[in-house]
Amino acid sequence: MDSRTYENNAEAIEAWDTVLFDKFSRFRDVLTRGFSIHGDALLDRHPLRAGSRVLDVGCGFGDTTLAIARRVGEGGEAVGIDAAARFIASARGDAESAGLQRAARFVVADVQSDPLGGPYDRVFSRFGTMFFASPVAALRNARRSLAKGALLTMVVWRKKEENALYFDAEQCVLQFVRPPEQTDQLTCGPGPFSMASPDLVSAQLEAAGFDRIAFERFDADICIGSSVEEAVDFAMALGPAGEVMRLAGEEGEKRKGEIVAALRELMVGKVRDGGVYAGTSTWLVSARA
Ligand SMILES: C[S@@+](CC[C@H](N)C(=O)[O-])C[C@H]1O[C@@H](n2cnc3c(N)ncnc32)[C@H](O)[C@@H]1O
Repeated sequence: MDSRTYENNAEAIEAWDTVLFDKFSRFRDVLTRGFSIHGDALLDRHPLRAGSRVLDVGCGFGDTTLAIARRVGEGGEAVGIDAAARFIASARGDAESAGLQRAARFVVADVQSDPLGGPYDRVFSRFGTMFFASPVAALRNARRSLAKGALLTMVVWRKKEENALYFDAEQCVLQFVRPPEQTDQLTCGPGPFSMASPDLVSAQLEAAGFDRIAFERFDADICIGSSVEEAVDFAMALGPAGEVMRLAGEEGEKRKGEIVAALRELMVGKVRDGGVYAGTSTWLVSARA
């Protein structure tokens, strides 16, 4: 986990609306296909009733919000919230193309500090809750938007070492470059592994007013490219390896040839069934308001 403390979400939101939006857009297909395996596992574990009102926290491109809108049907409502305006603009465009602009609504808001509407029958999030400067304040705000007794369900990454997708590539890059101790580059706040500890997250959920807190481990291999080249590009741009490269700046550029060669060797070992596959591991978390 990032050891810095964050006063508010301003820097993280700017990062999501600029450099991270651009990177996510470039790898959108790979990301949403891989992330869907985990998001669908969460939805299957905690099925939604037809007619439910659902808030999708940190909805990104909103593919989950559209999937939820289809599941809850005409009498229900799916509201996608994201602090990055460019993700919301993209989500609104997709909802319109799918003819779901009435069933799925999208709002630009900071989940930690803005009104979230409601009451909802469910708060759902696929990897959208790990970036708050104050997770308890954000979870409390989410809890207040829920009907009494309703469920919050979220999928979050387990620790980095259990996610070969991220860990192996980062170890590979760290052989050649290290991120600087201090940086003036934008970063995404506490980061993708900030909710990996069930003890910590249970305490945060309890402090936010939830009870009946449960964690279920879910593991899946996901495809990070249809070729070794695609998988190397992915690792160079995204996740902890991509962050090391971005923050290392010129140092990374200087050693790019060696780093690409080492990543290529790593990815060759992960080829099967016409793609490059890497292990991932998450917690499917549920808690009652
Ligand atoms: C890893 S992405 C996940 C996106 C999407 N849920 C998915 O699975 O593809 C994290 C999302 O959380 C959003 N986010 C980060 N901090 C936020 C905040 N304080 N309030 C609302 N959304 C936030 C980001 O803009 C980004 O779209």
